[in-house]
Amino acid sequence: MTAVSVRVPAKVNLQLGVGPIRDDGYHDLVSVFHAVSLFDEVTAAPAGRLEVTVESAPYSRVAVDGVPTGADNLAARAALLVAARLGVEPAVALRIRKAIPVAGGMAGGSADAAAALVACARLWDDRDDPALTRDDLLDLASDLGSDVPFALLGGTAIGVGRGERLTPALARGVFHWVFATADGGLSTPAVYAECDRIRAADSRPGTRPQVSEDLMAALATGDAKNLGAALVNDLQPAALKLRPSLRRTLAAGRDLGAIGALVSGSGPTCAFLASNDEHAAELAADLDGAGVAETIVRASGPVPGATVV
Ligand code: C5P
Repeated sequence: MTAVSVRVPAKVNLQLGVGPIRDDGYHDLVSVFHAVSLFDEVTAAPAGRLEVTVESAPYSRVAVDGVPTGADNLAARAALLVAARLGVEPAVALRIRKAIPVAGGMAGGSADAAAALVACARLWDDRDDPALTRDDLLDLASDLGSDVPFALLGGTAIGVGRGERLTPALARGVFHWVFATADGGLSTPAVYAECDRIRAADSRPGTRPQVSEDLMAALATGDAKNLGAALVNDLQPAALKLRPSLRRTLAAGRDLGAIGALVSGSGPTCAFLASNDEHAAELAADLDGAGVAETIVRASGPVPGATVV
């Protein structure tokens, strides 16, 4: 086999319920993940040694300078895990083409790790009865990060624990989104830490989160308006504290007719829900004109997880 390319989607959290901090430093979550049609592509090709290159995907304007290319790159770590499990040398060149914003709250790094797992498994274990099963890849994915298993699975799914224990959600129809990216990312640990600080200052440690019934009903019926009203992100106050300019971005989207608006994950990307494709096109153009974001991108969801192309 010469090379394997895998396409992998970004995510937005339709609900991000954050519980109190645990002894291991993580937070118990209820996360409703939704995969959207904004894709990174990872190509794995045989090479003398493990190498990573990162570039912006054609027609995308993602700033990739912040992405590490050494052993601390999450995709490189994924390749090392697969090689160790299969007992082969990690002699692979990983070429990552990014359209998912870096440190944007859309799980771009996790997506690349999931894509690298699938690409390397296929490159080194190309049999009808592969040694690494889908469940094995999911286990490796959860070792790599809380959002990596969902990038394998895709669709719309409820995540509990750190977010890594997934159950597909009953969801109907297609939802149309507009994403406003920001200049510069936000560090996920910093946003969680700010969330803890805000709660401590309010003497509210955070309670064990529950799945939103309204959100589940909106998904099951495919009702965009109800979905927009049910979107909720417990990390949003922390992201707004760290990046106050996002208030203006969210307000602009709401004023311009978005039927739902929230910070995506730990931010700083903001997600706006539109009623249909045409509405998304209008909203995207209007948001672009409002000058409240670095770039405006449209996407729809749900879409499948990491897929060999
Ligand atoms: O799992 P992952 O490495 O992607 O998480 C990045 C950081 O996000 C963690 O180091 C932690 O600070 C925070 N986090 C958390 N609770 C979770 C998931 C992530 O506090 N459930």
